[in-house]
Amino acid sequence: MRKLIAGNWKMNGLRADGAALARDLVSRAAKSPPSCDLLVCPPATLLAEIGSLLAGSRIALGGQDCHAEPKGAHTGDVSAPMLKDAGCAYVIVGHSERRQNHHESDATVRAKATAGLGAGLIPIVCVGETAAQRDAKQHLSVCGGQIAGSLPEIAGAGQLVVAYEPVWAIGTGRTPTTTDIAEVHAFIRAELKKRVANPDAVRILYGGSVNAKNAAEILGVANVDGALVGGASLDGASFWTIAQAAG
Ligand code: 13P
Repeated sequence: MRKLIAGNWKMNGLRADGAALARDLVSRAAKSPPSCDLLVCPPATLLAEIGSLLAGSRIALGGQDCHAEPKGAHTGDVSAPMLKDAGCAYVIVGHSERRQNHHESDATVRAKATAGLGAGLIPIVCVGETAAQRDAKQHLSVCGGQIAGSLPEIAGAGQLVVAYEPVWAIGTGRTPTTTDIAEVHAFIRAELKKRVANPDAVRILYGGSVNAKNAAEILGVANVDGALVGGASLDGASFWTIAQAAG
């Protein structure tokens, strides 16, 4: 399966920074097109502008979250149809920073993923254990519970991406061993087999301290179909090295 390298810019980037980064990526893609799919998920304020800069390139646009409702009295929220309208093809849902800081439950994440699908977006559903859960050897049961509770019901082939992001690896510079990554990704694939019609068509991304140095090794692990990159996606050269490692 062609790998997907996705950049989650999180709450980073004013208009000038975002535009400069997008232009840099478009120029790199034109010069040396990678043999993977590429996605950037800028903050909501930049979506429309970055979307126009990416138009005609092979780099897709995604939102970092969406509301479960298509519109209404939800101050500060952004809906899935709004993301689609801004040019998005994907939406991240259930990132641990939303699960933790915004108290999002599995049911909320599932509702958001379902809303994304309804708007014609591909949801990227994030799962992952905390350090305490890993220490207690609960990582598989935690990820299994999140998958059971947050995956949208109707996802078919190519309509869904799952991202394994161990909370303790996000922004810390620490990554699981390749054996640990392989274990969880194989487990997620097996869970998908129970739940979706075409489980091998669902990409399973790894996220958490992926950088230009460790990308090739991580992307070489079985069942790792790409990466969800935070910090290193804010630097054009690093993001590009990761994309090339996927080819
Ligand atoms: P870092 O790559 O900064 O660890 O962030 C990973 C992440 O949360 C991507 O969604």
